[in-house]
Amino acid sequence: MIRLSKPYFPPEAVEAATAVLKSGNLVQGEYVLKFETELSAFLNVKHAVVVSNGTAALHLSLLSLGIGPGDEVIVPAFTFPATANVVERCGAKPVFVDIGLDDFCMDPEKIEMAITPNTRVIMPVHEFGQSAEMDEIMQIARSHGLTVVEDAACALGTEFRDRKSGTFGILGCFSFHPRKAITTGEGGAIVTNDDDLASKLRILRNHGIEQIDGFNDFTLAGLNYRMTDFQAALGYYQMFEIDHLIRKRIEIADQYSAGLSGCSAVKTPAVLPGRTNVYQTYHVLVDERFNCDILKKRLFEKGIETNYGANALHVLKFYREKYSFKQDDFPNALRSFRQGLALPVSLYIGHEEIQYICEQVKLMTA
Ligand SMILES: Cc1ncc(COP(=O)(O)O)c(C=O)c1O
Repeated sequence: MIRLSKPYFPPEAVEAATAVLKSGNLVQGEYVLKFETELSAFLNVKHAVVVSNGTAALHLSLLSLGIGPGDEVIVPAFTFPATANVVERCGAKPVFVDIGLDDFCMDPEKIEMAITPNTRVIMPVHEFGQSAEMDEIMQIARSHGLTVVEDAACALGTEFRDRKSGTFGILGCFSFHPRKAITTGEGGAIVTNDDDLASKLRILRNHGIEQIDGFNDFTLAGLNYRMTDFQAALGYYQMFEIDHLIRKRIEIADQYSAGLSGCSAVKTPAVLPGRTNVYQTYHVLVDERFNCDILKKRLFEKGIETNYGANALHVLKFYREKYSFKQDDFPNALRSFRQGLALPVSLYIGHEEIQYICEQVKLMTA
């Protein structure tokens, strides 16, 4: 079976994680700091705060900004549900904006219509590792006095006009889930150039504990969103290979795009000017003549694991019922959800396998 993804760990990472396990000091040790230092250097940002997963990163970000009841947060209608779920968990309201079909990210032209007097945050998602249109999003945020928090869960290393995704907004959130370019099993990070927010995030991730005059006190109602030190060791050593890991993903994507060229039923990812894509997911849109569930099943029978790309949030039971959405409220999100297909990407996949996958997709959509 060609798996949708398979994590890669350099031998030093496994050795270091094993050494941490043997040491008995499993939480908040030297590797947490080392991993944070590598991340902030790579992203050219002042602070990186690693946490237990990408959802925790998003949740803490909104908590650190004091987002709560009565507030609205603008999110794309097409994303992993965590983007909107954390808004709900803060007691605020997620307001959906449809996406563009070239980048699968929030369509800037539709943001202004979604802004109300209660809007506090715009939360763009760099979907599948492709950057959202950050010039326009930042401009809209500035002109309305709004804060930008980037959901860069899939986008470690992605760039928009030579600047790394996750560093445009006041806070940027990353995930290190196994399908991401680097993984700590579960894991996440928040990055920022704001000193006060960084220290607040560190307190919030650690039960609300703050050192005052050498003594610990609980100064905020925090959570336990810490990353363990053995996870951080895995992340730290993968950071030395990040450029290579991203290059490999781009090579795979190029091979898919070449292999699928001329296949009129399949729209391959667009490469947009000024933006890079790290292809956390290689995601194609399949013509509506074909049922993607059947296609996924047939590919599976041929030894190829695929999946849908992301969710149209407005058709998920919770959001549909809570906000009385209709299917056609966000047509591009719905189409991407129904007709999107994620093809296998991993360090272990070779040219012949990619050729085979392309041949099967072409045969099944001929
Ligand atoms: C866009 C987006 N945001 C948030 C998350 C949540 O990250 P995690 O699974 O690390 O909690 C994901 C997970 O894949 C994601 O794709």
